Amino acid sequence: MKILVINGPNLNMLGKRDPEKYGVLTLVQINELLQKKAEEQNVALVFFQSNHEGEIIDFLQKQKADGVLINPGALTHYGYSLRDALVDTGLPAVEVHLSNIEKREEFRKTDVFTGIVQARFMGQKEQSYIMGFKKLLEVINHEH
Ligand code: DQA
Repeated sequence: MKILVINGPNLNMLGKRDPEKYGVLTLVQINELLQKKAEEQNVALVFFQSNHEGEIIDFLQKQKADGVLINPGALTHYGYSLRDALVDTGLPAVEVHLSNIEKREEFRKTDVFTGIVQARFMGQKEQSYIMGFKKLLEVINHEH
């Protein structure tokens, strides 16, 4: 089984961003946590981060996989072309956020991925990724 782990704009700066909202771990450290969990389950992960919506779309269009774990960053709130690309993959997807986007500024309450992802996890810092990964495995395993 192969899962794409995608992070959008500014998530390469984790570790230097507001720790209250985003925690203290770098993206490399979060990916290491996921990698450990994935190895326990015999799952292959492919990691991708970009600050550019089009690059993420290019990546999604090229990959063959069984599912997508995605933190779209601020694209969550307006990234319609990324949303379309994710739909076009036909893959099950789970969305994760370090912070709780429902308890922050008004504009963050809009989530263009709602309804096209199988589940969302937020507000648990890096644990959101772990919870999202577990859920995605469940979703994929139910489909097979
Ligand atoms: C985020 C929430 C977004 O609103 C924000 O733009 C981010 C990170 C999160 O993980 O909490 O960059 O996706």
